[in-house]
Amino acid sequence: MSLLELDGVKVHFPIKKGVLFDRTVGHVYAVDGVSLKVEAGETYGLVGESGCGKTTLGRSVLRLVDITEGSVVLDGTDLAKLPNEEMRRFRRRLQMVFQDPLGSLNPRQNIESILSEGMVAHGIGKNQEERREKIKAILERVGLPSNALARYPHEFSGGQRQRIGIARALVLEPDVIICDEPVSALDVSIQAQVVNLLEELQEELGLTYLVIAHDLAVVRHISDVIGVMYLGSLVEEAPSDTLYAEPKHPYTKALMSAVPVPDPEVEDRRERILLTGDLPSPANPPTGCRFHTRCPWAQAEKCATERPELKDVGGGHRVACHYTAEIASGKLAPTRPTGIEAVTETEDALVERTEGEAEVPAVLLPADSTTKPDAPAVKEKVPAAAETPGDPTADAVAKDRDAAAPEAPGKGPAGTD
Ligand SMILES: Nc1ncnc2c1ncn2[C@@H]1O[C@H](COP(=O)(O)OP(=O)(O)O)[C@@H](O)[C@H]1O
Ligand code: SF4
Ligand SMILES: [Mg+2]
Repeated sequence: MSLLELDGVKVHFPIKKGVLFDRTVGHVYAVDGVSLKVEAGETYGLVGESGCGKTTLGRSVLRLVDITEGSVVLDGTDLAKLPNEEMRRFRRRLQMVFQDPLGSLNPRQNIESILSEGMVAHGIGKNQEERREKIKAILERVGLPSNALARYPHEFSGGQRQRIGIARALVLEPDVIICDEPVSALDVSIQAQVVNLLEELQEELGLTYLVIAHDLAVVRHISDVIGVMYLGSLVEEAPSDTLYAEPKHPYTKALMSAVPVPDPEVEDRRERILLTGDLPSPANPPTGCRFHTRCPWAQAEKCATERPELKDVGGGHRVACHYTAEIASGKLAPTRPTGIEAVTETEDALVERTEGEAEVPAVLLPADSTTKPDAPAVKEKVPAAAETPGDPTADAVAKDRDAAAPEAPGKGPAGTD
């Protein structure tokens, strides 16, 4: 059995409307049936465009959002079914490192206080003296000076603050660390240092990681297995090297073709797959294959009507596409342009449409009606974090959420990054 197993996890946020009475008028299908396994001591990399549900999936593991359906099993225990008090104890074993290190550290607490908080809540260390010694050792391990203890988050650089975030997770001796875009807020020169640190710590401490990123380059070297997410579900999963050598799903092919290759000759020769259109709204996902509205290989049959399952095609490589074999063998050619002409075509269509629209009386086209017709009000459910006062992870998650998703209820479902 794997250390962490997700089976059919769904997180649907209700869309509420109404002044006096809240009516549920729809759902944001943020995570819509994800099954994956993370082996002990390994790293699972989860990639996908902003808004595809990665953060929500990470939070569902810690039960910081309610799981609508499915199970999250850590070391044999289904977290989705645990009473709150027991879940609080399990949270020590599952820690999170956030994208925005400053937003997730309380500016009014010094580093010793930030790091001790979780230790006190989970009964680690007999007294403050003992906790301080442990904190000092961990700060040193993550590359921070021991005088960092008395300093405040704003006194550190972005990279150092991310090291503090990592130290805060480590002092609780977790089994699994969920790193949500751990380096995307950092300068490129610092990113590699933090990724290397995560790798070293994994080797030394036998940690298990779920690393979430929108950038394939970030997860490539650190991950044993990579899962590619599109609009709430996995479209492909494979051991890291296999995925890079042989991406099979059209979406992964497109993502991969956007990653630059260092060899200029290969870079010149290789084929680019340019996707057109934005990620559809998770409140109104396309029928059938969620990717059919943008897939260059979409077929008239099946693609728009039947949702493909994630199927094993051998060697632990799973793909959710009706035509995996035909696309791989070249039997099926793209039905839409994939190169630069894809973009030109969309631009032409846009010009035509805009010219046509200019003749329509302006009153029929209020400014935002073309983008968000009748955008529904989304009332955010108070996350489970509120049920466990004093749990610093939960507090930090809530803070991070607020920092990452500042949109007010009523703005409608939008990407949080
Ligand atoms: N609390 C919430 N209530 C309603 N919608 C949400 C909530 N949290 C996230 N969403 C929506 O769910 C979708 C997935 O978001 P998220 O998990 O943050 O994606 P990612 O991390 O991949 O960028 C987005 O459309 C987002 O607006
Ligand atoms: S099922 Fe159809 S639309 Fe979906 S990825 Fe495969 S070919 Fe494209
Ligand atoms: Mg995110």
